[in-house]
Amino acid sequence: MNIGIDKIGFYTPHTFIDMVKLAEARGVDPAKYTIGIGQEQMAVSPVTQDAVTLAANAALRILDKEDLKKIDFVIFGTESGIDSSKSAAVYVHDLLGIQSSARSIEIKQACYGATAGIQLAKGHIALHPESRVLVLGSDISRYGLRSSGEVTQGAGAVAMVISANPRILSLGDQSAYLTNDIMDFWRPTYSDTAYVDGKFSNEQYIAFFLNTWEQFKSQTDMTIADFEAMCFHLPYTKMGMKAMREIFDEGTEEDQKRLTDHYQLSTIYNKNVGNIYTGSLYLSLISLLENDTSLKAGNRIGLFSYGSGAVGEFFTGTLQPEFREALAEAEHKNLFAEREEVSIEKYEEIFSEVLPVDGTNLQLDIESDPATICVAGIEEHKRLYVNKSR
Ligand code: CAA
Repeated sequence: MNIGIDKIGFYTPHTFIDMVKLAEARGVDPAKYTIGIGQEQMAVSPVTQDAVTLAANAALRILDKEDLKKIDFVIFGTESGIDSSKSAAVYVHDLLGIQSSARSIEIKQACYGATAGIQLAKGHIALHPESRVLVLGSDISRYGLRSSGEVTQGAGAVAMVISANPRILSLGDQSAYLTNDIMDFWRPTYSDTAYVDGKFSNEQYIAFFLNTWEQFKSQTDMTIADFEAMCFHLPYTKMGMKAMREIFDEGTEEDQKRLTDHYQLSTIYNKNVGNIYTGSLYLSLISLLENDTSLKAGNRIGLFSYGSGAVGEFFTGTLQPEFREALAEAEHKNLFAEREEVSIEKYEEIFSEVLPVDGTNLQLDIESDPATICVAGIEEHKRLYVNKSR
């Protein structure tokens, strides 16, 4: 059965900072951030946005009335969830008005959660071909002010409708995956910022890519020449290139040039948003599809997902005849155009503003946040969500 991505959209908060200005404020050569790391701008999430609202705002942009009636499974991948018990998917289900005969769950495995969601959705649709599954990947990446990971923060969400006979990308049945218990990046439940062994995480990312790539080749007869493009989980845009370069000697100069050219276009959105953890691979896919005019129906795209801790997966998708018409390109370009740059001082202020954890009630000013769906406050340990369009 032909199952895959029928719709794909993203959302990122309305404020961002310039990485050159961040480098200057931190006394670092700006080229380290823009060339060495490969980031130009970084989304800054206001206190009125969290993983739930970012995901709901991303989905709002792509769902129509028929989707709301037909979606029977909401799968939410996140590593910045807001509750250890209730899933973020249940809030989104309500905020969007999805029909009630649905399952709603949250999946956690660092940046791999949305990929696990897609694979689960595939199985569900194979059994129920009429179903549509909403898969969300939403996160706010926080390492801390002046930390070594600060330059690789970001915020945003990707929403995908997975269905039979998809209009954008048909997902291949062959997939290679790997689990290995390592401590490259983690966030204990008592901390709102991540812990990371930066160099080790880079090495493990590459090792997981090479392992899953080798497994994938032995499962199939494919080689590097069978791929028009490859998209990667992008904690920062240099990372995917570091991994892809490792297999370049398996191909010709033409293969290397083709993959490098497509790769540059697959990083445009990520360069300007930063790391959005679970959604990053799919933000890169959107960037490729919306910025690369040379892609054609039938092209095969390799996808590498990596979630620290760690789980990795290499799988593929094939572009469908109507893929261009099914994209939300104009919407996404507007989203970028309407963002507002904030100073480094303002970013530090926004970063330090967090919801109370001691039971204090708080009302937030949601008028200063242009997003349709916001966190309006907190009352008796419950977050209050508002969909302004209702
Ligand atoms: N001009 C140009 N390039 C420069 C430069 C300059 N003036 N100064 C330094 N650079 C280059 C360095 O040569 C280096 O390039 P290579 O990696 O190609 O060697 C690059 O800039 C980074 O420099 P450093 O290694 O010195 O940077 P750092 O010590 O500050 O750490 C980091 C970088 C490890 C990515 C750190 O930001 C970090 O820990 N980030 C969070 C962890 C992370 O993103 N890991 C990725 C894999 S894990 C994963 O993918 C899961 C996830 O989402 C977290």
